[in-house]
Amino acid sequence: MTDETLAGLARLLDRLEVPRAVLRIGEGAWLHDRASGGWAGDAQPPPLDGPVIPLPGGALLLEGPTLPPALHALASDLAATLLEAGRARDLLGMVSQTTLALHSSLSLQGILGPLSRQAAEVLDAEASSVLILDRAASVLRWQVESGGASRGQLEGLSVPLGEGIAGSVALTGSPIVIDDTAGDPRVARWVDSATGFRTRSLLCVAIRFRDQTLGVLEVLNKRGGGFSPEDVRLLELIAAQAAVAIENAALYERLEERVAARTRELGEANERLSGALQTLQDTQTQLVQSEKMAALGMLIAGIAHEINTPLGAVSSNTDLVGRGLRKLEGRVGPDGQGLMTSLHELTRVNTDACRRISDIVTNLRTFARLDEAEWKTANLHEGLESTLVLTRHLYDKRVEIVKDLGELPPVECCPGQINQVFMNLIVNAIQAIEGAGTIRVRSRHDGSYVRIEVQDTGCGIPPENLEKLFTAGFTTKPRGRGTGLGLAICEKIVRAHGGRLGVESRPGQGTTFTLTLPVHRSPQETTASGA
Ligand SMILES: Nc1ncnc2c1ncn2[C@@H]1O[C@H](COP(=O)(O)OP(=O)(O)OP(=O)(O)O)[C@@H](O)[C@H]1O
Ligand SMILES: [Mg+2]
Repeated sequence: MTDETLAGLARLLDRLEVPRAVLRIGEGAWLHDRASGGWAGDAQPPPLDGPVIPLPGGALLLEGPTLPPALHALASDLAATLLEAGRARDLLGMVSQTTLALHSSLSLQGILGPLSRQAAEVLDAEASSVLILDRAASVLRWQVESGGASRGQLEGLSVPLGEGIAGSVALTGSPIVIDDTAGDPRVARWVDSATGFRTRSLLCVAIRFRDQTLGVLEVLNKRGGGFSPEDVRLLELIAAQAAVAIENAALYERLEERVAARTRELGEANERLSGALQTLQDTQTQLVQSEKMAALGMLIAGIAHEINTPLGAVSSNTDLVGRGLRKLEGRVGPDGQGLMTSLHELTRVNTDACRRISDIVTNLRTFARLDEAEWKTANLHEGLESTLVLTRHLYDKRVEIVKDLGELPPVECCPGQINQVFMNLIVNAIQAIEGAGTIRVRSRHDGSYVRIEVQDTGCGIPPENLEKLFTAGFTTKPRGRGTGLGLAICEKIVRAHGGRLGVESRPGQGTTFTLTLPVHRSPQETTASGA
């Protein structure tokens, strides 16, 4: 009962000068007292022995003398109109609440629950359910049921299109009202058996959008009577709102599916592109590495050859001179002894120099190990030593080299490639030291692994650069000095050997690169020579 209806009735009672009145509508009762000027809800109002004005769904009982018939009739009409207007306002409020509830969700389940509950409330029914049409299977499926003795027992069950009440409404689009279901053959009794609910009356309308049936909306058992034509119009109004909301939800779902599919496609395309880019970068790194190796190999072979030929001549001539000097020894008089000693000394110096040159050439060959691009067991110290000899001109007296070499077992590897790693690490360390500094080269054997550390007291690496170090092309060196491929190649070689290249650095204090390699080749490391 709205306040506005009660206020209107109060004005009417005032005009009729009724001291007290009781309004009974359905289960509710309100007492009006003219002296206090208001209404009060009262479950047990006092019995009044005055005129009774019958109203739709109740009555208005007055205290005092009987009203003249004309006044009685007028009062009766006025009271009924006031009640109707109040009820219409209530319904309008409930329908707009339903509309709001339906349009506040974009998911089908979010719409159907409130739809079922609001339909039952607006129609003052005990129970309600929503069935949605599965066009492909030609069946209606229960989606939601509310109220009644059971909940959820029907959800998922279906009824064929054209069968039963719901099926007929969906097929024809016309509403069905049954005020007494007893003996009506259209009513499917199995539904009541499934829910334990007893259907006495029902109203079922189609949910339609642009001439297409989407489903049906059903309300069961009106409290206090059957369903009126007004109830039918009301439920159809709610069903029409529901149809728009359901269609919107379906559109939204299709849109979401398309967005998800498109996002998936884009993700896949992105992955393919990243894969292609990675392959491209790997190929580029490989090409540069094999170019480098080939160029280095040719250079070393050329230098070794060029040096070896004159070195051979110088060393055999020195040998001959030495032997000649020894033959002359007995024949030289005391005056020539000083000269002989000097010549012996010069020959010895020449022989030493030749041996050193020969050592350098051997080191060059050891470093390039061009003949050893395949897997071998190698002494890693040899590679380290020759790398230090070959890079001496870069550090000379400026940088102190401290060697802390432990006992290393022979390691199964591609020695030429591992030497290339040593070369890159040592050259980087030298270049990181401006002016004087120290490079420590440490080696250790640890179970089935060997560990080589190259530690420098150079400029260090800022944390934000650490993760980019092994990316091909990353360099902080000026153009022409660094290609940024050194560490990328090292990392690839080490990975192909089943090892690991780690780095720790403190900006301004120095950097340590740690190379860990397995002593024995594991079965999957088969591609190192192609690294
Ligand atoms: N020991 C180190 N100390 C400080 N920074 C280093 C050290 N080693 C590498 N870096 C940094 O990592 C970058 C990449 O090194 P990388 O060896 O890959 O390339 P590069 O030395 O710049 O060029 P390239 O090796 O082709 O001559 C270097 O430019 C430098 O900034
Ligand atoms: Mg480098």
